[in-house]
Amino acid sequence: MPRITQPLRDEHKELLPRVETLRAAADCIGAAPVTELRDAVDAAYTFLDGHLIPHAKAEEAALYPMVARMMGAREATATMIREHVEIGRMVTELGVLRGRLGGETLTPVTANYLRYVLYGLHALVKMHFFNEEEVFLPLLDARLGEAEARELFARMERVAHEAMAGAR
Ligand SMILES: [Fe+2]
Ligand SMILES: [Fe+2]
Repeated sequence: MPRITQPLRDEHKELLPRVETLRAAADCIGAAPVTELRDAVDAAYTFLDGHLIPHAKAEEAALYPMVARMMGAREATATMIREHVEIGRMVTELGVLRGRLGGETLTPVTANYLRYVLYGLHALVKMHFFNEEEVFLPLLDARLGEAEARELFARMERVAHEAMAGAR
């Protein structure tokens, strides 16, 4: 029988290959021309700001309150919300670094900082996804009714679309 949270798992599955591009972009630093690195960073930033952050907003608006309710404690999702904040902060840093990739070469300071942000985001986002999938979603699979799930997914989609429109 398919799990009730399958749409959320499918969404993560769709996002994960794009999360892997962060690591690939970091691998480019010092190994590929700056123009190539610039394209990779642009694509990574567009994905994070335009897709991943709206996904996180949708979770905070609909998924996390539902999980908190099921766990019987508002604090149950606090660590995951804190991770969203850190992801958002690092995406902002990536946006700033993007503005420093206009020349033919990178300074060692920029190269190191960019490496830190890209590898850091890659590890953080992946870990965050696994935590959601392995801790939160099984809880919902066990307790969420079909109508409740439909309502939850519709609300998440609405919030994500609003956030995506705002990101443009
Ligand atoms: Fe999340
Ligand atoms: Fe997620």
